[in-house]
Amino acid sequence: MKSLNITAIIHEYQFDELSKSDQELVQQAMDITSHSYAPFSKFSVGAAALLDNGMIVTGTNQENAAYPSGICAERTTLFYANSQYPNQSVKTLAVAARTESGFIDMPIPPCGACRQVMLETEKRYKQPMRVLLYGKKAVYEIRSVGDLLPLSFDASAME
Ligand code: THU
Repeated sequence: MKSLNITAIIHEYQFDELSKSDQELVQQAMDITSHSYAPFSKFSVGAAALLDNGMIVTGTNQENAAYPSGICAERTTLFYANSQYPNQSVKTLAVAARTESGFIDMPIPPCGACRQVMLETEKRYKQPMRVLLYGKKAVYEIRSVGDLLPLSFDASAME
């Protein structure tokens, strides 16, 4: 028997320690939570994607009475960015979330489906996509989606 040891690196910052451009991106993710449609969970999530051309695209979670028909903020944002600007890689994706009592203390961990979609974006543009996960007490920076999804499935498995 042998064990595979997979290491994931996550950098932790205070909001003030981020660069000004990262702060702006996180702020846009926070601001757009006000556009979330989350009448069922009351958990409002916002995401902001910085494209290679400098544009920022934002999106939110959109829920549905038929629960599985809803979609997370990360996928709303990436699918919109990839639809509108298919030739622009996504350099950084920032995510923020709040409950009815305010922004959450610790960063929101993206769901598995969103991690898989993030990975596809990274593979598609053949460059690492940074992910910034906001929490009031810490902001996590992941420098490549591979660190969020070890042992991941991608197109290379089908070759
Ligand atoms: N949600 C997101 O938008 N992003 C995540 O990373 C996790 C969860 C949404 C889905 C649903 O609308 C609500 O948060 C509660 O799960």
